[in-house]
Formats: sequence, C-alpha cells, structure tokens
Amino acid sequence: MAQDYIASIPFDQRLYRQDIEGSIAHAKMLAKQGIIAEDDAKAIIAGLTSIHEEIEQGKFQFKPELEDIHMNIEARLFEKIGDVAGKLHTARSRNDQIALDMRLSLKEEIEKTINKLKTLQFSLVELAEANKEVIMPGYTHLQQAQPILFAHYLLAYFEMFQRDKERFQDCLKRTDVLPLGSGALAGVPYPIDRDFIAQELGFSKVSTNSLDAVADRDFIIEYEASAALTMMHISRLAEELILWSSTEFGFIEIGETFTTGSSIMPQKKNPDVAELARGKTGRVYGNLMSILTTMKALPLAYNRDMQEDKEGLFDTIDTLHPSLEVFAQMVKTIKVNAKRIREAIKKDYILATDLADYLVKKGLPFREAHGVVAKLSEYAINQGKSFHELSLSECHNFSPLFGEDVYDITLESSVAARNIPGGTSPQQVEAALIRAREILR
Ligand code: ARG
Repeated sequence: MAQDYIASIPFDQRLYRQDIEGSIAHAKMLAKQGIIAEDDAKAIIAGLTSIHEEIEQGKFQFKPELEDIHMNIEARLFEKIGDVAGKLHTARSRNDQIALDMRLSLKEEIEKTINKLKTLQFSLVELAEANKEVIMPGYTHLQQAQPILFAHYLLAYFEMFQRDKERFQDCLKRTDVLPLGSGALAGVPYPIDRDFIAQELGFSKVSTNSLDAVADRDFIIEYEASAALTMMHISRLAEELILWSSTEFGFIEIGETFTTGSSIMPQKKNPDVAELARGKTGRVYGNLMSILTTMKALPLAYNRDMQEDKEGLFDTIDTLHPSLEVFAQMVKTIKVNAKRIREAIKKDYILATDLADYLVKKGLPFREAHGVVAKLSEYAINQGKSFHELSLSECHNFSPLFGEDVYDITLESSVAARNIPGGTSPQQVEAALIRAREILR
C-alpha cells in the first residue's frame, strides 16, 4: 500500500537513458580516480549498457517495490553482474543522482522547445510574406482602431515567440550545471573529479554548493514559468484565430485537418485545435502553481516532496511541445480572405486618427483636432456615410482647415504614414521580415 504511494517508477522510468548515462560517467570517473578498480568499472558499464538495451527493447520489468528508476536499474545491475554492482553507488546519493537526471533530461527538452518555437515562427513569417499587401483593421478593446498590415500583426507573435526562445535559452544556462558530487547533501569524502564528469556529460559548469545542488529545483520552475508564458502566447493567438474564422469575421479559414465538423450542424467548421490549445494553457499554469507550492516551505536539503516535481514538468513538456508543433502546422494552412477583411473596414471610420493628424499638420493642436474629428465621426455615423462620402462643405461645418487633399487619406496612406521603426508601414514591415528571416537562419 505505502509502497505504491512512495513509488515514482510509473513516471520516472522516462529518465532511464539519463540515469544510465550519468551512472556510466560516474563509474568511469571512479575508476580514473582509483576509487574503484578499472575491471569493476568495465563490468558496471557493460551491465548498464545491456540494461539500456533491455529497456529500449521493452524487455525490462519495472517494479514499484523498487521505488524509482535508480533502484530499478541498480537492482537489475546486481542480477546481471553480481556484487560488484554495489560499487557503482560509491561517492553518490540518490539525491544528487535525481538532480542530475532531471538536469540532463531538461537540457535536451529545452533544445527541443527552442526548435519547436523556431518552427512556429517560421510558419508565421511564411504566412506574413504570402499576404504582405493585406491591410486589416487593428483593434483595441476589440473595436476597430487603426488599419495595420496583416503581416505586421503576425510579426507581433513572432516577437512574442522570440522572447519565449530567449527565456528558454536563459533557463538552459541555469539548467546546465552538474549537481553530481554533492552526495546526499554535504559532498562526498572521496577524491572525485567533478570536472571530468561534467565534461563527459556535457555540462558547462559544476555546482558550487552541495546543499543547494540537491535542494534546488529552480531550473524546473523556470522552465514551467517560461512554458506558461509561451502557452499564454499560443492561447492569445488561438483566441484570435477562433474569432477570425467565425462567420461574423470570416477573415481567415483554417485548414480542414485542424478543424472538425459538427455531428448535427453540417455548416460548421469548429476550430478545435485552437480551442484545445487555449484550454490546455490552464494545465500548464496549474503545473507551475503546483511546483511553486510544493517547494515553498521545504527545509534544506532534499525532501521527498521534491519527487512531485516530475509529473508536472513532464506534463508541461508533453503539452507544450505538441501545441507548438500543431500550431506550426496549422498556421501554414491558414487562408486569408482579403476581400472580407476589406469589407470589414468599408466604412472608413478607422481613419479617424488620420483625419485628426491631418488637422494637426494644418496647425491645429492635437487635442482640438481630436475633438473636431469626434464630432465629425458622430455626424458621419448618424448620416450613415463614410468619411469619403462626406462633401467638403459638410466637413467645413466642423473645421475650415479641411481641404480637397483630405480625400487622399486612405487605408493605404494611413498604413504607409506609420513609417517609423516598429511601425506598420510596408517599408518597416519589409525590414522586419528580413530581420525575422535572419533570426531564423
Ligand atoms: N525518487 C526520488 C525523487 O524523485 C529520488 C531521490 C530519492 N532520495 C531519497 N533520499 N529518498 O525525488
């Protein structure tokens, strides 16, 4: 009963490769330092290698009564090579061993996460390039605010995912530290060579405090926090794809593989993939809260509570990675309905700011210009006319500064006018696309 409660093997068997890799490096080091005999190390390494094969071939029997991945592998090593197996755990504890396994594993996962983010960014850039000339309404408060390039919108997400990549890169730096050699908590009384193990396993640094090294799970929390942010970005994108593919908007169409039909309403094409990604964001937040709470009052150094770090982290990885993959694929299938988007801004009230800016250029202070255009807009809306349908004399009722050239203000001129770094003008967006391409190279 308690055995099952304590056991972590149902989920930490996922760490078998890292556990074996770490043990092999450890055994090599022990022999090199003369702490165990060269032949013993050879027997241990051969045994571990064949256990690795057994696991890969699905022939290994994991036993809950052996608690975790470390003891499962060690017990099998005894069966295979006899008592010499007992020498492997010299100058080591399960506390620094599990810290090692988690770091080795997370380092690999972070590389994958970054690559998947990159692939998604790539899809966004492709879609932006394929729809470079499309002008869409930009929103604030989900109210049409100012025209922007559709490509500019997509590149906003490129930026978010770029920051996410940087966060994971940063997390990698702090994950890339070897904890082995810390022992249970105080270090070990053998002349071990930690730098050698670090080199064998590809760590750039060796931890500098044994207590901290076995008690630290910051690197896991950092990953989960970064993942929570990434999922938040995915979820915001999901939300917009859902809105825009609705009948009301009709701005985009998502490829069929990423939508489902309704069982009773044949007209429907539900954006299930986007909805699920939005939904799964919740569990990734939950995992972050869970590990933060687990860690918050633990005395130094290791406590068994920390075994709870695993399922949440694995679940976060297993949620984040497929979400990134499926989005990268789905974005590729998006068809942009430029005509519908154009129709959505047929009434050109979205140009109100440009009208105000026009008056400013004619000498009116901005606040006053804003007031004039507010009244003009109200009038136009009441008349059911767009700005372009108002006559010049109608405009003059609001300000004498309006001239014929006010009719030159269009969606295109509005977008083109925002030609400052970070702005939505075609020239700036072109430069941003080139920059994005360079980042992805
Ligand atoms: N299964 C344990 C964990 O995941 C390994 C470390 C166990 N250490 C110990 N002293 N019981 O945290």
